[in-house]
Amino acid sequence: MNTAQTPDLSSFWMPFTANRHFKHHPHLIVAGQGAYFTLHDGRRVFDCLSGLWCTPLGHGRPEITDAVRAQLAELDFAPTFQVGHPKAFELASRIARWAPDGLNRVFFSNSGSEAVDSALKIAIAYHQARGDARRVRIIGRERAYHGVGIGGISAGGIAVNRRTFGALAAPFVDHLPHTHDPAQMRFSRGQPAWGAHLADVLERLIALHDASTIAAVIVEPMQGSTGVIVPPVGYLDKLREICTRHGILLIFDEVITGFGRLGANFAAQRLNVTPDMIVFAKAVTNGTVPLGGVIVEQSIHDALMHGPDQTIELFHGYTYSGHPVACAAGLAALEVMERERLIERARDLAPILEQEAHALREEPHVADIRNIGLAAAIDLTPRPGAPGARARAAFEHGIDAGLLLRFTGDTLAVAPPFISSEEDICRMFAALRGVLRRLD
Ligand SMILES: Cc1ncc(COP(=O)(O)O)c(C=O)c1O
Repeated sequence: MNTAQTPDLSSFWMPFTANRHFKHHPHLIVAGQGAYFTLHDGRRVFDCLSGLWCTPLGHGRPEITDAVRAQLAELDFAPTFQVGHPKAFELASRIARWAPDGLNRVFFSNSGSEAVDSALKIAIAYHQARGDARRVRIIGRERAYHGVGIGGISAGGIAVNRRTFGALAAPFVDHLPHTHDPAQMRFSRGQPAWGAHLADVLERLIALHDASTIAAVIVEPMQGSTGVIVPPVGYLDKLREICTRHGILLIFDEVITGFGRLGANFAAQRLNVTPDMIVFAKAVTNGTVPLGGVIVEQSIHDALMHGPDQTIELFHGYTYSGHPVACAAGLAALEVMERERLIERARDLAPILEQEAHALREEPHVADIRNIGLAAAIDLTPRPGAPGARARAAFEHGIDAGLLLRFTGDTLAVAPPFISSEEDICRMFAALRGVLRRLD
């Protein structure tokens, strides 16, 4: 790196980062255009994970820049407590039009974590409003990532999160098993045929805790952060059926899958299973301005609209819920996605991604490859006694090969921007092949 231009790195305590390692081996991103970033030393790297799953339209979109600039000039902030501004209503209506039928009430937050907390609170408030105050238990799933709020780490299933912060976790939670069994589904293309029966464990949890204590089940339709774990055929349908039968709400956390990643507006539509709430964030503004939220089925919303009409029905909200600049960015991003038919494009690119990803099967250290929509993961065999080291080495070699890769543990995930060309995707995998061959 060109140290003459390096800022002082000491004060910024970086999130989810090995800070000491980074500060000795920094990679600074200084610009982004289309599907590529520019690094501090002038090298261009392909954005293999669309930022952090959040920039499907690519970087430097003039439509979004213009909308944000105009919004800042016209109305930079307006409260949404007891007053409102037009763009929040417009964006909510637009998101409702994208969502499955019946899910048409939208509560805004700033992030996925806050959106998860909001969904869990809405679930509990809904049951209370219907006189079912005992329904407070949340069922999550092993290996789930629902962000870092107290609700998210409670329902989430990442062991290290729970080991460190378990004392803060909500008391009334339980977890379904995750659905990833390499012995049954290694190198599956798309949805694995094996594993629908794992949803039956929900019946066992219901027998254990009694349905009358369970408010909601929350799952990511495709588990993104822990390595593109694709739901087995029939699994989500079963969860839906069991929840409906027992009066339990089903929440899909679509922070990663929402807005096209699986080749439909939401995973709910791609997988043909309609939940009661959808949590979203990330791609809604193409990652440009923080914004998240929950799309709620109308009868759940309506159940809370009771009492004198001057009471606050849901005692919940953020200063920046429906921030005008975020809403302007969201409206512009969704407009571009519609106009350029980018979700269809993601659907068209998906078979190419699948073919190219699975062509790496015989490369050194590859233990498994999975894919769905425009996302794939490659598990590497860990180095003995050094978990994560091999994927970190792949990350470093990737930069030399013109790729910004994402790794967690020994898994590499790719989810390129929807605007990528077929050549971009083929080049990404060709470069990745070279990276795998350099690993020891
Ligand atoms: C499924 C899911 N839920 C929630 C979150 C948390 O979102 P945020 O980081 O915006 O709080 C993430 C982030 O990656 C996620 O993947």
